Amino acid sequence: MSVNTNKPTTSFGVTIAGIGAYAPETIISNDDLTQLVDTSDEWIASRTGIRQRHVVTGNQSIVDLAENAIQDALASAGMDGEEVDLIIAATSTPDTIYPATACQLQHRIGASRAVGFDIAMACSGFVYGIITASQFLRAGTYKTAIVVASDIHSRYTDWSDRNTCVLFGDGAGAIILKADPETDDILACELGVDGSKGAELTLHTSAQNCPLVKPREPGNNYVYMNGREMFKFAVNTVPMTIRSIVDKAGMTLDDLDHVVLHQANIRILQAMNEKMGIPEEKLIVNLQKYGNTSAASVPLALNEAVLDGRVKQGDVLAMCGFGAGAAWGTTVLRWSCVDQRLGKHQETSDTQEIQLV
Ligand code: COA
Repeated sequence: MSVNTNKPTTSFGVTIAGIGAYAPETIISNDDLTQLVDTSDEWIASRTGIRQRHVVTGNQSIVDLAENAIQDALASAGMDGEEVDLIIAATSTPDTIYPATACQLQHRIGASRAVGFDIAMACSGFVYGIITASQFLRAGTYKTAIVVASDIHSRYTDWSDRNTCVLFGDGAGAIILKADPETDDILACELGVDGSKGAELTLHTSAQNCPLVKPREPGNNYVYMNGREMFKFAVNTVPMTIRSIVDKAGMTLDDLDHVVLHQANIRILQAMNEKMGIPEEKLIVNLQKYGNTSAASVPLALNEAVLDGRVKQGDVLAMCGFGAGAAWGTTVLRWSCVDQRLGKHQETSDTQEIQLV
């Protein structure tokens, strides 16, 4: 069903109602990968910080992962799917090109009033989704939005290429945003694209031309990454955008309680942190357990920090997704969520300490 998209008459703020995440149960450790490629736990951990990654098995799908993350976020918000009127799904590895992932999720979660669409912005997708949803909420077009990020890179990884196969994992994360006539917790936003760096991180489709015409040149549909170039891009861009957004919010870096960056690689996070001089304890890091889960990495890390009590109501956080495009999305927000799961949640994950410097 469609929702009224008439010209809005009022402007609203945006508040955060819930957060959730999900990672598939199957774990592949660095040691497991030595069965596939010439590598070692020591090489992977020292170059990337990653110790293990979660991967899908069998028919587990993008929609399955996203649905689990949304159900977690609905529990966090104490809400029903029926209350949602906008679903934005951030994924670059959809099960189907169409129907859109968001449309499939609308049916799965019983959000019969909701409209939805997908955003394919790779590792920046979750933050692009939040900023896009905020525009609809601020304009008064919709009242309640879910932004869900879900990516399965294990299906697009060349498991014989040690340069890439050690880096990625699968997962999903979701956030619920509401229009609010009085409060605005999204304090500043910034989106960026540098299309000249598009060739440094790519994932091609393998579809073929009509057999009556010249065939398409053979390629593959695996992730290709120029690791060094992406490293340089991230280390130059992220401090620039974080400084700019904090400035836009009328704050300084000292005003941030937490920084949640795309969980690409511990050395990227270290280098950025050195440039910005943000205290290590403010940086939320969980890539050691999940690897690079693309669009899902920011909500997977944030959700964990909410559940274990690091992120508290009223805290101010900067969030930045960055990667293929090259693109980045950055926001500063006040954590207003009154999480209904807290107290019910038992931390069962095998948290592993990681040294930043
Ligand atoms: N295990 C063991 N050796 C490996 C390996 C692995 N998994 N992957 C690469 N190597 C080898 C290379 O073959 C190379 O060997 P050689 O010197 O004999 O040719 C050597 O290690 C160094 O390779 P190099 O590519 O220079 O390594 P690096 O120090 O640049 O680290 C990355 C590689 C991918 C970890 C690093 O470039 C990186 O973190 N890039 C950013 C990636 C990223 O997170 N991007 C996404 C977000 S934007």
